Amino acid sequence: RTVKIVLAPFNGGQPHGGVDLGPDYMLKHGLRYQIEDKLKWKTEVLKPLEGLNLENLKKEADLKEKITKPTIKRADLVALANKKIYESCRDGINKGEFQLTIGGDHSIAIGSVAGLLSRHPNAGLIWIDAHADINTVNTTETGNLHGCPVSFLANMDRKDWPESFKWIPENLLATDKIAYIGLRDVDEAEKKILKDNNIKAFSMYHIDRFGINSVVEQAIAHISKGDKDCPIMVSYDVDAIDPEASVKCTGTKVDFGLNNREALFLCERICETGNVVALDVVEVNPTLGADEKEILKTVAIGCSIVRCSLGETLL
Ligand code: ARG
Ligand code: MN
Ligand code: MN
Ligand code: MN
Repeated sequence: RTVKIVLAPFNGGQPHGGVDLGPDYMLKHGLRYQIEDKLKWKTEVLKPLEGLNLENLKKEADLKEKITKPTIKRADLVALANKKIYESCRDGINKGEFQLTIGGDHSIAIGSVAGLLSRHPNAGLIWIDAHADINTVNTTETGNLHGCPVSFLANMDRKDWPESFKWIPENLLATDKIAYIGLRDVDEAEKKILKDNNIKAFSMYHIDRFGINSVVEQAIAHISKGDKDCPIMVSYDVDAIDPEASVKCTGTKVDFGLNNREALFLCERICETGNVVALDVVEVNPTLGADEKEILKTVAIGCSIVRCSLGETLL
């Protein structure tokens, strides 16, 4: 089997530079070798953003927005980058191949999930994150679009979207095909969205209450809806993991997260279904490390998430 590695070195969905270096650092850590030599998958690399001068486009957008002060930041740039990622994932990957997208900030999941769903329309989405990332263009407090990807995928407040996002297909992701794991920093407006739409969400409370095994089981059952072959996509924001455990190099750290075993067990267990077709690993920001060791720990667990999702086991 082949893993198509989609590089998405994009940082325009949030304020920090450096999260665009995630793909470079993970590849330099030996990710491709680990996938090919240890796990025996073939790999190919796709670079949908290669033709874009992202830093220039970002500067132009920021300059303009200093005056216009829009409620969502760099909207057209985020829309453009994601359209490219979407097209790569839709057209550049065949049905039997595994889609691995490496971010970049979490806004890139607009493109990766939309692309995956165009190949697997019945896929369920497991969103592993400290945050729900379901603010709409109307509810976001920060204006950072990495806090909004799920609302775009689920078509929320579409009438208020900038024109540049209208390439997103309308009936892409039903709210009952989403399950969250790891939440602990959810905005008030997002809590209302989760409640109003009856979205399955497991916070750190549920992990403490039921244990990670039961939570994963319930998440898989919820999105699969009785179909034992239901394709599964995992969108993994590394900030789901506790900063003290391993992930200090990320833009929106939140204490009291997943421990390292919980973080990898999730991937092992979901992989065990045999139904995982796609994975995002996002929000690795090597420039936010205080020293080499912090950087290494974050990058290393990012690579472990990939390996465990592709079938690496302890025995
Ligand atoms: N809820 C906050 C916001 O909307 C934080 C989002 C953090 N998202 C992330 N992908 N790290 O700005
Ligand atoms: Mn997050
Ligand atoms: Mn715990
Ligand atoms: Mn996120």
